[in-house]
Amino acid sequence: MTPWSDGYVADVAYIPGYYRQQAPPHMALACLLGGVDPMLPGATDRAHYLELGCGHGIGALLIAASNPAWQVTAIDYNPAHIAGAVALARDAGIGNIRFIEADLATFADTPDGRALRSAEVVSLHGVWSWVSPAVRTGIVRLLAQSVAPGGQVHVSYNALPAWQGGIGFQRLVREAGRRSGTRSDRQVTAGLQVARDLFDAEAANLRDGRLVSQLTELLEQSPIGYLAHEYMNAHWAPCFHADLQEALAGAKLDWAGSANLLEAFPDLTMTAAQRAVLDRFDDPLMRELVKDMCLPRQLRHDVFVRGARRLSDAARDRALSDVVLTLTVPASGFDYQMDVPAGRAELGPAFRPMVEGLERSPATAGHLLEGQQGRSNPAELVGVLVGTNQAIPLLRPKAPNDPAAMRLNLALSARVRSVVGGEVSGGLASVALGAALPATRLDLFVYGRLGAGESITDLDRWVEMLSGDVAEDKQGRLREALIRTAEMRVPIMRRAGVL
Ligand SMILES: C[S@@+](CC[C@H](N)C(=O)[O-])C[C@H]1O[C@@H](n2cnc3c(N)ncnc32)[C@H](O)[C@@H]1O
Repeated sequence: MTPWSDGYVADVAYIPGYYRQQAPPHMALACLLGGVDPMLPGATDRAHYLELGCGHGIGALLIAASNPAWQVTAIDYNPAHIAGAVALARDAGIGNIRFIEADLATFADTPDGRALRSAEVVSLHGVWSWVSPAVRTGIVRLLAQSVAPGGQVHVSYNALPAWQGGIGFQRLVREAGRRSGTRSDRQVTAGLQVARDLFDAEAANLRDGRLVSQLTELLEQSPIGYLAHEYMNAHWAPCFHADLQEALAGAKLDWAGSANLLEAFPDLTMTAAQRAVLDRFDDPLMRELVKDMCLPRQLRHDVFVRGARRLSDAARDRALSDVVLTLTVPASGFDYQMDVPAGRAELGPAFRPMVEGLERSPATAGHLLEGQQGRSNPAELVGVLVGTNQAIPLLRPKAPNDPAAMRLNLALSARVRSVVGGEVSGGLASVALGAALPATRLDLFVYGRLGAGESITDLDRWVEMLSGDVAEDKQGRLREALIRTAEMRVPIMRRAGVL
């Protein structure tokens, strides 16, 4: 293990990525659905967005490029991550971002830490339950001195009890892995293989736990950087929501809601019998514990506010009615069915005209609900459309994209040289969204080719450019996927202000 890393994996880089839960407008929706007033800074405010444990900085860069008047600070102690992030910022000419190489265990007490401007929006994705208690304490100290009153903080973490079946599994993978080699990527592969062999040998304590049934997928499909950073950390410790709340109270943070937006709707995510137990409690801590007992998800995404101001239902609905939405899928591909504990839920015929309307142009939730007899619930409309990842809030409709955002998008697209493997990004910056439009590798590739002045008539060349790792018999599928991307995704990019 690297001597300076306090048990966290630092000899293998993490995977680059963008996560929609880190987007300020998405966090604001989580607050609204939780009945809390979000303090979302305006387009021209000199706001400050802070990311702790930023990895390769892709998310922070996309937020900076999408909010040119804001200042973004992104901190990570891995110099390889920071060096790559600084190089990408320089290549794309993103001037409103500062990357700092620093250890979160001690940063709050350094001159730079003390001088950090207070931040209106903060995100820690994939950090809290993976680092040592000393780092968690340092994070709370930093949040206590750096979050602006009313500021939002997003924290993702491995949640208990969903991870309880995985605690022994992680220990086994780490211990077996450490004894088999030196580098964390080789260790995790070896450790997972031992878990696999014990699973096949019917080890009693590997019979339960979702992870174990996902072993083959983990071994064969997950990127090695992800696996090493998930399983090989010395202090990995999934935690209960109540314990995170208690720790963050040290920074005067109040829990506002879940950035997994569907979790605000027990009617959709829990069975009637589960809801009957949930409804015995008013206390949010107890309600979240009941949810955590029932929901199969292992990663929580919570949004906290420093000094939550509660909204009346009417004020919350007014704010949600004003949210402008745009689709992130073509209307023809919109999934009206949702997986829920009781089976599949149907979104119902009332959604169809709204989805078709959104394909014609972005609209406010209030406008979509006009004329929808008997349906006047903007929370449900916004929560379901955005929560199923089929729509995204459009913060600044009609705002043209910034040249810096376009440069970053082109720089990210230039990294896509194959359909699988290599660098991933996952987003295209948009000033209109105030965030990134989540993007696949093919989205990025097509964006880049269009940016280079090409069009779908260059399809043969596109297929050739991406065919390096695609077997000849699969190239027809690549061709079809590229045509689909150009036909279906490009209009979505336009409506989201990316193009
Ligand atoms: C799982 S990665 C997540 C990265 C990024 N947030 C993302 O989601 O792509 C966790 C990150 O936290 C960083 N980290 C871990 N311990 C840290 C510490 N003590 N100080 C600063 N950064 C730390 C790691 O270097 C790594 O980049």
